[in-house]
Amino acid sequence: MKKNVVLFSKIPADQQTRLEQAFNLTVFDDNTDYNSTSYTNALANAEGMIGNISTRIDDNFLAKMPKLKAAATISVGFDNYDLNALKKHGIRLMNTPKVLTESTADLIFTLMMATARRTVELSNLIHNGKWKKGITPEYYGTDIYGKTIGILGMGRIGQAIAKRAHCGFDMNIIYYNRSARHDIEQTYNAKRLELDNVLRQADFIVIILPLTEETTKLITKEKLALMKPSAILINGARGKIIDQQALFEALKNKTIKAAGLDVFEIEPLPTNSPLLELDNVLLSPHVGSATVETRYAMAKCAVDNIITALKDEKPTENWVN
Ligand code: DGY
Repeated sequence: MKKNVVLFSKIPADQQTRLEQAFNLTVFDDNTDYNSTSYTNALANAEGMIGNISTRIDDNFLAKMPKLKAAATISVGFDNYDLNALKKHGIRLMNTPKVLTESTADLIFTLMMATARRTVELSNLIHNGKWKKGITPEYYGTDIYGKTIGILGMGRIGQAIAKRAHCGFDMNIIYYNRSARHDIEQTYNAKRLELDNVLRQADFIVIILPLTEETTKLITKEKLALMKPSAILINGARGKIIDQQALFEALKNKTIKAAGLDVFEIEPLPTNSPLLELDNVLLSPHVGSATVETRYAMAKCAVDNIITALKDEKPTENWVN
């Protein structure tokens, strides 16, 4: 008999078909009534689920899914899944770790370059009819080539950023990571330092750490104060790694030069966020992996994961717990 699986977002049609062939599938979308009996029943009967970064899975939610055995997320990050609660209920979680590395590293570079060269600000200048004469020094940007990049987190995406920085931009690479990556140090001439020293020395600080208890509010007011006034901060990981109010103040008071943010403490970013007042912050709506190719590969990977775990009842290489 086919097992029941719930899918919390739309995925490409051919991948949905694979799920429909393997399972009794219920798909939730923007039209789903989360107060309806059909929603409650689908949760109550589900043995598998595919969620994403917006799906909050905790003890309370799992109480509504008593038959759940396996969960897949269409994301590499899984900070929105309570691992203790999953363990308590005996549920395995699988993520999509390898397929989004390059597009996320590309987005980090997009943010670095656009922030350093003030691309959005200068584009808005033209849109607003203010390009009347040659651009004066107050609009000049900052070079990236040959500068020092400080990478916080030397996992897969950190390494892909190091490759771009070394091979494409001749950058000096310093990094902060729990463990040393001697291979990366050799290949890209990278140097591992304490967090405070990375913050003091880098021209560009790039955050690509997972959100954990250790990394929550890692970048406080005091840490921001260590950065050079000319430094640019890029966050492509999770908003809660930075004290966002402290960052707002550092940007407003120009104790750091600029920031490029793809992630925020609260997403979507509230329309009254003080960050919206600033010119020296480039805002991006959590799109590190949002390319057609990568989002397809992530959906396929999640479908592979749930089929392997629940239909074939085999271990997958993507268990996170
Ligand atoms: C992830 O997969 O965790 C990313 O943040 C989604 O873009």
